[in-house]
Amino acid sequence: MAQTLQQLKESLCDCKNCRLCEGRTNVVFGEGNPNARVMFIGEGPGKNEDEQGRPFVGRGGQLLDKMLDAVGLSREKNIFIANMVKCRPPENRDPQPDEMEACLPYLREQVKIIRPRFIVCLGRISAQRLISPDFKVTKQHGELYEKNGVLMMGTFHPAAILRNPNQKEPGFEDFLKLRETIKKECPEVYDL
Ligand code: URA
Repeated sequence: MAQTLQQLKESLCDCKNCRLCEGRTNVVFGEGNPNARVMFIGEGPGKNEDEQGRPFVGRGGQLLDKMLDAVGLSREKNIFIANMVKCRPPENRDPQPDEMEACLPYLREQVKIIRPRFIVCLGRISAQRLISPDFKVTKQHGELYEKNGVLMMGTFHPAAILRNPNQKEPGFEDFLKLRETIKKECPEVYDL
């Protein structure tokens, strides 16, 4: 059992638990503050992420960083960003259920080590797997759910906002609500 994030990261660099290992350039473990109180969980790496071995570094990632910055959050400072699957699905297709199940033990281990107070699901794929199987982002985005002591929120995936700019405003409102809730529940996030 890994004790630290670094050990966990090393243990999965040659993972072959599912077929996604066949096409990957790099495992995208995730990055951020290992003591973060807030975790963001996306879907899976795309082309840029696979090439660089880092989550959310393409256009969607740039938008995500801007929205985070606007509410005082950043991967350099006070959050950790990971994905449901750590290897790129071919042609950027959705990760398949068996691929997510194969990768879930790693995400669980990350959550166990980091022990966040908040988990924000970016998009339907992570919200349906982590909040509830029938989660509808358009209806339930921004709502808070408490699960095992963790406050969970689902919101729009940044790539969806890029495709659908009318989701930008409701998506940003979710971030503002997140900031207010963090200030109430975990004000130390903003002291880091
Ligand atoms: N989309 C995701 O869901 N995750 C990434 O890391 C990049 C794009």
